[in-house]
Amino acid sequence: MKDFEFYNPVKIYFGKDQTLKIHSQIAAGNKVMLIYGGGSIFKNGVYDRVKEALKDHDVTEFGGIEPNPTYETSMKAVGIIKEKGIDFLLAVGGGSVLDATKFIAAAAMYRFGDPWNILAKGMPVAASLPFGAVLTLPATGSEMNKNSVISRASTSEKLAFSSPYSFPKFSILLPGAAGSLPQKQVANGVVDAFVHVLEQYLTYPVNAPLQDRFAEAILITLIEEGPKAYDNPADYEAMSNLMWSATMALNGLIGCGVPGDWSVHDIGHELTALHGIDHARTLAIVLPGLWKTLREEKKDKLLQYGARVWNINTGTEVERVQAAIDKTVDFFESLGIKTRLGVYNAGPETIDIIVKRFEERKWLSRGDRGLTTPEIIRRALEYQL
Ligand code: NZQ
Ligand code: ZN
Repeated sequence: MKDFEFYNPVKIYFGKDQTLKIHSQIAAGNKVMLIYGGGSIFKNGVYDRVKEALKDHDVTEFGGIEPNPTYETSMKAVGIIKEKGIDFLLAVGGGSVLDATKFIAAAAMYRFGDPWNILAKGMPVAASLPFGAVLTLPATGSEMNKNSVISRASTSEKLAFSSPYSFPKFSILLPGAAGSLPQKQVANGVVDAFVHVLEQYLTYPVNAPLQDRFAEAILITLIEEGPKAYDNPADYEAMSNLMWSATMALNGLIGCGVPGDWSVHDIGHELTALHGIDHARTLAIVLPGLWKTLREEKKDKLLQYGARVWNINTGTEVERVQAAIDKTVDFFESLGIKTRLGVYNAGPETIDIIVKRFEERKWLSRGDRGLTTPEIIRRALEYQL
């Protein structure tokens, strides 16, 4: 096992009647900005519940955070925060609202020029406004991690940052509110969480059996419970299991002491930036292509994954590796998620642009053991044309 540090200070409230807990988690004198997206919280009752919990607070509302939240919209919130002296943020919605809130919280305290530097130049976050979250969509794990992904509309870029200042103070997880999700978003959530586990698991063995089994438990739970939540988002039990699986998939625990990959995400972010493809759908395109390209390098873990998660125990090693890849693709497709670039009107020219962007950023050997070179990216995406 590799050396590791583990720190996760996020207080979680999970369940049906948890929104009132907000009241005790934000000091009476705080000036609060309630940040939300395109309006789903008005339709599923979450807005009313949150407002009830905040009835004694001075609240400014900021709506309109987009899926794939932008720098441009986030900076408008920063302007209002500075003008009004707001000192606590509350994100209410899915991963996009949470990620935007993390960036807004950091940008409001940034003293070294344009906060875009945090994303584009990897400048560290040295301070952040405190914030909490109310989660209505199981997918990203943003509710219990320190990561954020922000897009810049003017340049069609999508970049991530991570900072210990960017953990929520608390997160309220509402599986019931996720009952109003369109099926498409539930599918996205299952696949995003599934790939988060694989980014931390499907590398090479380092004798970390506990982390492996945590990862396999989450994958198997997603395979069992994800389709139930997809078929009926109002199935509270299934949605609860999906939501907690998605949180556990990316709160740092299963990544302790094991190598990570994350190049599926690096490449996927480009597909969103260039074509607006939903985040999870980009992962479902990239992952099979990358595995097909690196099947030899990732063979040991592909065989373990196939055996323990999909019960693939017969055939030659080559056949078992192929079966593990096929099972994964079938699972994504069973949730209505297509895994070919052509379906999304992306072709060879998109591959050229992505490869060039990696070269320009000097991202020449990313991911698991630095295996993801621009040439590997080209081959991986060509598999998925
Ligand atoms: O904007 P509203 O009106 O709220 O509608 C949203 C949005 O249209 C809707 N929605 C959310 N909860 C709902 C609901 N609709 C009905 N009922 C509900 N209960 O769903 C749509 C998608 O929401 P979004 O927040 O964009 O989805 P998701 O949670 O999948 O977040 C995706 C973003 O997270 C980033 C992605 O790149 C993408 O930008 N990620 C963040 C990560 C992190 N912070 O650790 C890791 C991930 O890998 C990912 O990159
Ligand atoms: Zn993801």
